Amino acid sequence: GKVRAPTHVVSTICDDRGEEPTYYGVTMSELITSDYGVGDVLALLWFKRKLPKYATKFMEMCVMLCADHGPCVSGAHNAIVTSRAGKDLVSCLVSGLLTIGPRFGGAIDDAARCFKVAVEQGLDAPTFVEGLKKQGKRVPGIGHRIKSKDNRDKRVELLQNYARKFFPATRYLAYALTVEEYTLGKAANLVLNVDGCIGALFLDLLSSSGAFTQKEMDDVISIGYLNGLFVLARSIGLIGHALDQKRLQARTCGRGPRAGQGGRGEPLYRHPWE
Ligand code: ACO
Ligand code: LMR
Repeated sequence: GKVRAPTHVVSTICDDRGEEPTYYGVTMSELITSDYGVGDVLALLWFKRKLPKYATKFMEMCVMLCADHGPCVSGAHNAIVTSRAGKDLVSCLVSGLLTIGPRFGGAIDDAARCFKVAVEQGLDAPTFVEGLKKQGKRVPGIGHRIKSKDNRDKRVELLQNYARKFFPATRYLAYALTVEEYTLGKAANLVLNVDGCIGALFLDLLSSSGAFTQKEMDDVISIGYLNGLFVLARSIGLIGHALDQKRLQARTCGRGPRAGQGGRGEPLYRHPWE
């Protein structure tokens, strides 16, 4: 008789068996002919649903605003050094991506987890911050190497303004700002950073958009979807830095469209002794 083939992989987000591929049931034709953008693709492939326009636009803003933050940050630095060592594009990209973590760009999920618990437990900002301090933990989503009370992060301001205008509620953002007010009393660089702002605003999105049940919201936070936004966004900048170094090298080596026109060129990186 018929023997059913064993299932090797179960996937629930897309299908390529029909006449055309689908992202969570939405055909490529619909994606292209209707007004879908990258935020809608994220909604379908990560969250397995369509989300309202203001929400997908918010995700696109996160991707745009976090795409790059200059050549000096950990990820870009690694990508640049790797590119100057003559490595291929994928190596440059992953070398940059591997720096994303609890200190750099990867604090979004933990910020969301901490703010969620704090709001659920009704902790005021001093109790929340001092509680983490007693455990020897830094507050995720708070602090920046160069941004401070007097040198605000434009990205945080833009995201907040957008959410205040378009989100049904911004309760978690309001809480995060009480935390910032308290930490700024300790040191001027203990601002709500872009990771913390995205973490808080995502809690607002999940809890007030009507698109997620409480259980689904809990899953998003406990599984940890949100660092993915920074990883995705920063990949754009890391690729840019890797290509930038290759262009500069091509000028030195006499290859490429600007060969022979001079230029500084970027040799193998070696950190100065001093
Ligand atoms: N919570 C509590 N205290 C803090 C925090 C924080 N988030 N950040 C700094 N401090 C205090 C601590 O007392 C720290 O001393 P310690 O080293 O003994 O713990 C002291 O400030 C010194 O910190 P700084 O030198 O001012 O900060 P640094 O430049 O070392 O760190 C960083 C900056 C890594 C962002 C830090 O603030 C931090 O770990 N924040 C939490 C993680 C986070 O949100 N990262 C995302 C940053 S945004 C981005 O990468 C896109
Ligand atoms: C970034 O987006 O890379 C940062 O906010 C970290 C930094 O130090 O600028």
